[in-house]
Amino acid sequence: MIVARSAEEVRAAVAGPVAFVPTMGALHEGHASLIRIAAGYGGTVVVSDFVNPTQFGPHEDFERYPRDLDGDAAIAAAAGADVLYAPEVAEVYPEGFATTVDPGPLADQLCGRSRPGHFAGVATVVVRLYGLVRPTRAVFGRKDYQQLVLMQRVARDLALGVEVVPAPTIREADGLAMSSRNRYLDADERRLAARVPAALRAAAEAYADGARDADGLLAAPDLEGLELEYLELRAADLGPHDPDRAAVLLIACRVGATRLIDNVVLDPAHPDRAALELAAKEPA
Ligand code: PAF
Repeated sequence: MIVARSAEEVRAAVAGPVAFVPTMGALHEGHASLIRIAAGYGGTVVVSDFVNPTQFGPHEDFERYPRDLDGDAAIAAAAGADVLYAPEVAEVYPEGFATTVDPGPLADQLCGRSRPGHFAGVATVVVRLYGLVRPTRAVFGRKDYQQLVLMQRVARDLALGVEVVPAPTIREADGLAMSSRNRYLDADERRLAARVPAALRAAAEAYADGARDADGLLAAPDLEGLELEYLELRAADLGPHDPDRAAVLLIACRVGATRLIDNVVLDPAHPDRAALELAAKEPA
C-alpha cells in the first residue's frame, strides 16, 4: 500500500476500476470492514484520510478530531487498501474554490437540524474527492444512515457514475456502534453509551413481535443519562414512516460532550433480522 499526498500519486497507482472508501481517518474495525468490502470488487482500493473542515460547525470537534496517519496506514493496509490518500487542505480546497453541493431538504432534517451545513460540507467534499480519485464505486457505512442516503441521492441526481455501496454497521460486544468519536468517552460515559444500542434492540425485539408503529416500537426506551436529540421512525429512504414498508429507527444523542448516532433498519420481509443483528455478543 502506498500513502499518497496528491491526486496525481493516486492516479499513478491505479490499475483498473477504483473502489473508494472516503474516511476522516482515526480508522477502526468499522472502517476496516468497509475496506474489505471495497477490496472484494477487485481493481484498486483507495481510502481517503482527510478531516474535512467544511462539515464541522464552529463549536464542533474539528480541532480535536483524532489524527493518526501511521495508525491509519497500518489498519488500511491490513484490510486490503492499495492507496491511502491523505491530501492537504490546499489540494482539496485550492484557492478560489467556490462550489458547494447542496443535497436538498433532507440535509436540514434529523442530524441536519442540529448541524446546519454539515451535509452540504459532506456532499461537497465527497464529490470533490470523487473528482480527484475517479472511483466507480464508493463504500459508505449504514451507521451514518442519513449520510448514506444523501450520498446515494447525490450520485443519482448528478449522474456521477459512482455506485454507492452500503455496508453494515460494526458493533462492539455490548452493541455500541464503532465510531472514531467513541474514544472521547470516559469509562462512565462508555457504560451509558451502551443504552443507545439497547434502546434500538428493544425496538427491534418489539418489531419482531409484531409492533409496527412508533407507539409500539418506542414504548419505553431507557435513555436515562443521555441527552436525546432525536429518536425518529422513518421509511428506509428517510421519507415518512409507512408501517407496511421497510423502516429505519434513528437516534442521535449526547453522552457528556460526545455526540453519538445510531440506527436500525426494520424490514417486514425479515422481521427478526434487526433483533438478531443487535443481539449482545460475548466479548472476544
Ligand atoms: O463519514 C465520514 O467519515 C465523512 O463524513 C466523509 C464521508 C469521509 C466525508 O468527509
